Amino acid sequence: MPLPICYLNGDYLPLTEARVSPLDRAFLFGDAVYEVVPVYAARPFRLREHLDRLDRSLAGIRMHAPLTHAEWGQVCQELVARNSGGDLYLYIQITRGAEFGRNHAWGADLTPTLFAYASALEPLSAQLLDRGVAAITAADTRWARRDIKSTALLANVLLKKLAADAGAYETILLENGELTEGSSTTVHVIKDGVIHTPPNGHHILPGTTRDVVTELAARLSVQSKSDSISESQLRAADEIWLAFSTRGVLAVTTLDGRAVAGAAPGPMFKRLNRAFDSYARELAGTPPL
Ligand SMILES: Cc1ncc(COP(=O)(O)O)c(C=O)c1O
Repeated sequence: MPLPICYLNGDYLPLTEARVSPLDRAFLFGDAVYEVVPVYAARPFRLREHLDRLDRSLAGIRMHAPLTHAEWGQVCQELVARNSGGDLYLYIQITRGAEFGRNHAWGADLTPTLFAYASALEPLSAQLLDRGVAAITAADTRWARRDIKSTALLANVLLKKLAADAGAYETILLENGELTEGSSTTVHVIKDGVIHTPPNGHHILPGTTRDVVTELAARLSVQSKSDSISESQLRAADEIWLAFSTRGVLAVTTLDGRAVAGAAPGPMFKRLNRAFDSYARELAGTPPL
């Protein structure tokens, strides 16, 4: 659920009163980029990594960063404080701005629209942790620059809806016989004690949670590898995990209706999930940037 106070172009105001122009290019073209930053115990988690990715997304759509990391850090802290802290997530969006008229090729001197709001982060239900989630597969129908975290998410939205229609949690995407990612998650495939994820590149969003998984795996002396994963490797996985900022890691326990890992979260998932939890808590009180 969205929390009451948002940030819009330098001001903090009630979300219900926030207004942007219908001529904003985000509204007309999806011409905008965004980030989602989890906050645990009032502390933004992996903020530097999210802001680095935001900068890369901005560069990818030929925009300059309108705020420094320190300034975004300030906005994040302010939103957390004004919405009573705790566990939540922050949504940050930068659009190319509004101009009078509709031109695919944007003009010079546009003023970007800066928007951020906070949302409650519901604790993971015991059912999701104990039973895992269902996933289906589908062909990846997205554009060629999936590394840019663009608000133009129509393909992702349609693909996620396929999962919802099938009573599943996520749609795992395949392209040319290989795994790319989920419609809003990084997919990890575990085989013979090794964690595999597809390499970063233009074809997937470089996940911040995936990097946490890699770091925690190293701490646990579990090997992780970045390599291409075929559809048959996905289907033969010992475990499949979804990683994403607002939920950390979730176990996939059925894929296209067939059981994965005995249809229950596997032992590797349990270890990693515990490590994730304690890592997020151990950072409490340390500076977010
Ligand atoms: C397409 C896609 N892939 C992967 C991810 C996971 O990225 P992160 O772990 O940084 O949230 C997301 C998150 O929203 C996503 O939308």
